[in-house]
This record gives sequence, structure tokens and C-alpha cells, in this order.
Amino acid sequence: MADVLEIRNLSVRYPDGTRALHGVDLTVAAGQRLGLIGPNGAGKTSQLLAVMRGVPFEGSILVDGVALSRRQAARARSQCGMTFQNADDQLFMATLLDDVAFGPLNQGSPADQAAAAATAAIAAVGLSGLEHRPAHHLSGGQMRAASLATVLSMNIKLLLLDEPASNLDFRSRQRLLEILTARPEAVVLATHDLELVAQLCSRVVVLDDGRVAADGPAASILSDRALLAVHGLA
Ligand SMILES: Nc1ncnc2c1ncn2[C@@H]1O[C@H](COP(=O)(O)OP(=O)(O)OP(=O)(O)O)[C@@H](O)[C@H]1O
Ligand SMILES: [Mg+2]
Repeated sequence: MADVLEIRNLSVRYPDGTRALHGVDLTVAAGQRLGLIGPNGAGKTSQLLAVMRGVPFEGSILVDGVALSRRQAARARSQCGMTFQNADDQLFMATLLDDVAFGPLNQGSPADQAAAAATAAIAAVGLSGLEHRPAHHLSGGQMRAASLATVLSMNIKLLLLDEPASNLDFRSRQRLLEILTARPEAVVLATHDLELVAQLCSRVVVLDDGRVAADGPAASILSDRALLAVHGLA
């Protein structure tokens, strides 16, 4: 199957001069679920933000075969959705329904279809009944679930999820697992939750100090205690 994400020689340097990534290569096949693990400050969030064009980067990023630097960048960008490490960064509209309808509206869906997609996504994450609450009146775990709903409501090929299970109770975490297992989109899951990676991902990339330290089948990387220990993960 075609690659939905192809990253070549990606470097991220923040305006203050901090270099977060140094020449990263990474491809994700359509429908593949990839765990992106690594110690604090490794560059996981920076990598996801680069794909969303949220940070300055050098190198090439192709989403569904289209370069983010090209004129069709808007089309490439509209194929992916990201949930932020801080869920409250995600939610900024007057109500939960507005937040979750924002993506489909932005993709050009008519208002009634966007509202229907949003209502379905809110139900899928277990938040039915809270549609008209402002997000800042939700609990931490509800906010986390809401931020997932903002990408599930869209028709996209790639989900970039930054710590999607933090603050989730057991039941909500199970729901997250079931949702992602059943969805067709490719997933890049940046997390410290190795159990979640083991449950969801077929492949794992270890990032450390802005570089890819390992890339392989989840089962072999997650069982390599020495490798995990070297990178501060076990
Ligand atoms: N806005 C910023 N300005 C300057 N440096 C930044 C900025 N955001 C992140 N960094 C730096 O970039 C590097 C990578 O950070 P990043 O947030 O990508 O790491 P991470 O792997 O997601 O870490 P964590 O596991 O703690 O979430 C770190 O050295 C961090 O201090
Ligand atoms: Mg991070």
C-alpha cells in the first residue's frame, strides 16, 4: 500500500535556536499504526507539529504523496489531524459541538453534515449529552476524549495523536483502544505509555535527542530491555 506519510531528512529548529530534530527519516504506510516513543525532550511532539506545519522545519514531508511545501499543501494538510499533548490547546470554540464540527466545516462539509459527524464522534468517545458545554467546563479526561473527537469527526487518512490516553480512566482507555483498532486511518501515536503502544501498534520508532534510534516491529522493540534502558524508557 502507498505511504500516507513520508518524511525525509526532517530537521526542526525553534526560533530561539533549539534544535529538536536532526535529519529524521520516517515513512508510515496507509492504515499502519506506529508508536513514536522516546524520553522527554526527544522530539516526538516536534515531529508531529512539523507534519501539521506548526513549527518551522527543513527537509521534506509528503502526506499522501503531496509535499507540504508545494502549492497543493492545503490538500496534503487536510488529510491529517492532530490531537495535542495538552488537550485544552485543542478546544477553543464556544461549545464541544462547535469544537468537534470545526474540522469537517473546515474541510468544506455543509453545516448539517458537519454537525452530524460531530455528534457521532462525540458519541463514539462517550461524551453524548455534553455537546453544548464549553470545553473548559469539562473534566481532564473528558477534555482528552473531546480532543480525540475533533479528529474522528473528519474524513482524513492520518491521525497524529500526542499522549491520547493521559487522564483517561480504565473504561475510557478501553474505548480509545477499541476506536483506534476499528478505524481505517494510519496513526502516529506519540507516548510514554508502552502498554498502549503494545496494544495498538505494529511498528515502533524510538526517537532520542532528535534522531531515530530504532525503527522496527513493535514486538521486538518493546521486548528489547537493553534498547529501552539506553533510551531511558525502562
Ligand atoms: N517552542 C519551543 N521553543 C524552543 N524549544 C522547544 C520548544 N518546544 C520544544 N522545544 C524543545 O525541543 C526539544 C524537543 O521537544 P518535544 O516537545 O518535541 O519533545 P517530546 O519528545 O515531545 O517530549 P515529551 O516526552 O516531554 O513530551 C526539547 O529540547 C524541547 O525543550
Ligand atoms: Mg511531547
